Amino acid sequence: MPRPDPCRAVIFDLDGVLTDTAHLHFLAWRALAESLGLPFDEAFNERLKGVDRMGSLALILAQDPARRWTETERLALATRKNAHYQRLLGGLGPGDLLPGAAEALTTCRAAGKRIALASVSHNAPTVLQRLGITDHFDHVVDARTLHRSKPDPEIFLRAAAALGVPPAECIGVEDAQAGIDAIKAAGMYAVGLGRAGALRGADEVLATLRGFEPSEGAHLAPAHSPSGPGMRKVAPA
Ligand code: G6P
Ligand code: MG
Repeated sequence: MPRPDPCRAVIFDLDGVLTDTAHLHFLAWRALAESLGLPFDEAFNERLKGVDRMGSLALILAQDPARRWTETERLALATRKNAHYQRLLGGLGPGDLLPGAAEALTTCRAAGKRIALASVSHNAPTVLQRLGITDHFDHVVDARTLHRSKPDPEIFLRAAAALGVPPAECIGVEDAQAGIDAIKAAGMYAVGLGRAGALRGADEVLATLRGFEPSEGAHLAPAHSPSGPGMRKVAPA
């Protein structure tokens, strides 16, 4: 699928795209899982990326189907994980933006694109504030009002509607498989961030946001430091 022409909006995920909070989520989930005697590693964590808090907990607990949890117990576990995660967020600041993230936001703005955030994290507004990038967004989807988590397209469709841009004229940027699936189900162009071949269905996969340009082909233009580490475009899986 070619880049949208025109491209009028770029919709970013947060955790793992603009900052490495994906790792903080991992640490907090691992601590919880281990305290329950349940296995948890990086590979399992990949399945939780982009999935909301209660959905993630359900996947962890499902590893031991014989054990039953009441809704009250589940809520208590989710609250415990979130308290741990929020403690880890305490040290977050502008220096924790991932390589190229700040530049990508200013490049999109300079190119006249509308910009939205599509994160299912209830902590997203706090994270944006700590990173000092809240003002870069024309719209931040309120995760508390969502009915369905990624891979459902709801969050990306809501972002596009709030920006007043048709999905076909939007680029979505994601680090998680559930997020790429959500972008594609929304009918948008999907930019994946990560290892080549790791994100099925992405229209392109970049190693980082370094050199990201929202316009067709611009990110590959030879004049734009093609040898930079983030410039490597790899074939979609
Ligand atoms: C993002 C992350 C997930 C996280 C979810 C909910 O999608 O990729 O790992 O579980 O947000 O985050 P929250 O801050 O609401 O617990
Ligand atoms: Mg993510």
